[in-house]
Amino acid sequence: MKKLVVMSGKGGVGKSTVAVNLAFALKKKGYKVGLLDCDIHGPSVPKLLGLEDVRGLEVKDKKIKPLDVQGVKVFSMGFMLPSRDAPVVWRGPLKHKFIEEALNNVDWGDIDYLVIDLPPGTGDEVISIVQLAKPDGSVVVTTPQSVAIEDVRKAVNFSIHAGVPVLGVIENMSGMVCPHCGKTIEVFGAGGGKKLAAEMAVPFAGSIPLDTSIFKSGEDGKPFVDLDSPSAEIFCKIVDTLLENLEMVQEELKRLQEKAEKAKKEAEKKLEELRKKAGEKKEQ
Ligand SMILES: Nc1ncnc2c1ncn2[C@@H]1O[C@H](COP(=O)(O)OP(=O)(O)OP(=O)(O)O)[C@@H](O)[C@H]1O
Ligand SMILES: [Mg+2]
Ligand SMILES: [Zn+2]
Repeated sequence: MKKLVVMSGKGGVGKSTVAVNLAFALKKKGYKVGLLDCDIHGPSVPKLLGLEDVRGLEVKDKKIKPLDVQGVKVFSMGFMLPSRDAPVVWRGPLKHKFIEEALNNVDWGDIDYLVIDLPPGTGDEVISIVQLAKPDGSVVVTTPQSVAIEDVRKAVNFSIHAGVPVLGVIENMSGMVCPHCGKTIEVFGAGGGKKLAAEMAVPFAGSIPLDTSIFKSGEDGKPFVDLDSPSAEIFCKIVDTLLENLEMVQEELKRLQEKAEKAKKEAEKKLEELRKKAGEKKEQ
């Protein structure tokens, strides 16, 4: 199982939208997928999938059964709250416990990918999730505005320092196609995400336009990748890029591991030879 985390430096840039649609795009490509909403205080996966009224999940053989949404296994903190408006007043250790529970005691089965939606920023919660989950890669979401770009720099650095390879920066809400004349309006500017990725030497995965159909499908509780729309097409290409980057990262990792293994064996062999020589000398 490969774990992918969706993160950002800032709130409201579209992480959950990206996480949900990444999961459903992977499903569309034929993979077995799980979606874990790790945003304990503001879980939005239930809303984005029209599952706000789901309360409690079945427990079988001491494992929590995730919800099956068109073949995608979904687990969210939102399902465990007593009501949809109940605030979460858990303290740090309990949050840690929830995350452990979600990773180890939810019956994910033999999925290919687990997409993890994170809360905004790079605070304690995000740190513990990343430490516990040991993700194989991260997807960093930003909007074109410079403030968000500054914050996303932190998110990229955080991922790199945590040893989680950045599979791609996504610039969301990048330009809007005018429904009246078809021309693109750059509401929040454009190109910041690409520039930032180049500056920080991490891959850029693509831009998602500001699109009323994306907003509307979120309101309707349906993934927008399932629509027949230009934005859905753009998003699927972004997912292809992320998968290509993941494959590259994993190959590189394998190569490095093999190299380290070989170096270790050679060092052991040399040490053995030296020991032998030392032994022979003693005997003389
Ligand atoms: N490209 C887009 N076009 C139109 N609306 C969008 C787009 N991306 C996201 N939205 C809308 O913006 C709002 C915020 O998105 P979302 O909840 O995914 O952000 P988030 O980064 O997860 O927020 P939080 O930091 O609160 O977790 C939602 O209403 C969503 O439908
Ligand atoms: Mg969110
Ligand atoms: Zn226009």
